[in-house]
Amino acid sequence: MAAKIVLISLLAMASSLAMASDPSPLQDFCVADKASKVLVNGFVCKDPMQVTAEDFFAMGLDKAGNTENKVGSMVTAVNVNKLAGLNTLGISMVRIDYAPRGLNPPHTHPRATEILTVIEGQLLVGFVTSNTDNGNRLFTKMLKKGDVFVFPEGLIHFQFNPGHTKTVAIGALSSQNPGTITIANAVFGSKPPISDDVLAKAFQVDKKTVDWLQAQWLPKSFSSLSSPWLPLMHWLLILVLFRTSASLIWTPKITRMAAKTLLLALLAVASSLAMASDPSPLQDFCVADKASKVLVNGFVCKDPKVVKAEDFFFRGLDKAGDTGKKLGSNVTAVNVNKLAGLNTLGISMVRIDYAPRGLNLPTLTPRHRDPHRQLFVGFVTSNSDNGNRLFTKMLKKGDVFVFPQGLIHFQFNPGYTNTVAIGALSSQNPGTITVADAVFGSKPPISDEVLAKAFQVDKKTIDWLQAQF
Ligand SMILES: *[C@@H]1O[C@H](CO)[C@@H](O)[C@H](O)[C@H]1NC(C)=O
Repeated sequence: MAAKIVLISLLAMASSLAMASDPSPLQDFCVADKASKVLVNGFVCKDPMQVTAEDFFAMGLDKAGNTENKVGSMVTAVNVNKLAGLNTLGISMVRIDYAPRGLNPPHTHPRATEILTVIEGQLLVGFVTSNTDNGNRLFTKMLKKGDVFVFPEGLIHFQFNPGHTKTVAIGALSSQNPGTITIANAVFGSKPPISDDVLAKAFQVDKKTVDWLQAQWLPKSFSSLSSPWLPLMHWLLILVLFRTSASLIWTPKITRMAAKTLLLALLAVASSLAMASDPSPLQDFCVADKASKVLVNGFVCKDPKVVKAEDFFFRGLDKAGDTGKKLGSNVTAVNVNKLAGLNTLGISMVRIDYAPRGLNLPTLTPRHRDPHRQLFVGFVTSNSDNGNRLFTKMLKKGDVFVFPQGLIHFQFNPGYTNTVAIGALSSQNPGTITVADAVFGSKPPISDEVLAKAFQVDKKTIDWLQAQF
């Protein structure tokens, strides 16, 4: 019983956890040079002339993580340690696998907001606010396939699969190296241990209980945790039943859903040119108040007292967008306009559907039209970086690619089947400037004289191009 009380206090506890966002990039990219002995904030940059498309690429996110451990979950992270090109870009990606009744135990990311979508199965998620926000409120929500949920930066959160089938989620975090503090491990399993005097006082229990709890964690590694997790999970369920009767209306369908969605993870839409990062949050959250007439950078905050779990939630990312129009691709964006809780959190998510040969890019060789090569991606560096270099890569299922902030980029499906990708962007409202539309389709049009000069072609060609847009 005492252990349960301690564990209850544990989740409610918001210790002095550092909360800081990644700094903004100061150049096109700064691929981590892991070989350098120089220690800096992040990593030293590799010589840009030695950088290739491989530096922005990682593979394997189609592979399920092994959930045969005591908590029944596994996080496969693609952060700067696995994808060197992420250095200075303030973003990373994870795949999380959950066995039936698997738990990703209460933890925080000291440097990142997390946005997550369920690809398969079902997931009970929750986070707890800090001490200052009307006292450690718990927000929980039952998610199904295609749902999106955001965990504000630095707050303690968890995910639990209450179903009888496995669950797969893809998450993105607003840091190249978000860090994870698993609360129970950090408090009871630190080396050397936190004095039992301190912990007894902190949790208002006797030292014997603290010693017992520490004994459960100390001699064991994370993967061999045993008994303490059972009361924790038990407690979690009780807590959830007690606190969130509304979400119990949701009844998980116990059908095994074959994962047929082609999942390619990549990071961005057609092109975005804004070169500044979102500001760091100054409170636990600031849910956008769309009704307010006051104009600020982003949105005015809704009264925190009327904020609900729904404010951090979006439904429908399992639905394919209509790719029938001109470009043969469709971006379904979950930004601050659709998910008010993203305001100030510096991240958002997209689903992109690509019809076969989904973007009219004429010059690909037949070699590229192979069903196992499903998305051709690329970006171009700015003028200052040794002159507009193009980096391209053919991606298949489970591959990850990063498009550095502000650089012009594209994706093209060269295959004979549809492609689906999940992307995350390091802004609540990344904005998109489709270059061709912006240049040739502006209203009113840019003078053909200006464009003729800019593109070094004659005015007739420009007039023809403008007529197409
Ligand atoms: C994208 O798909 C949605 C839903 O199918 C549709 O309403 C919308 O018009 C499509 N957008 C484009 C640009 O084709």
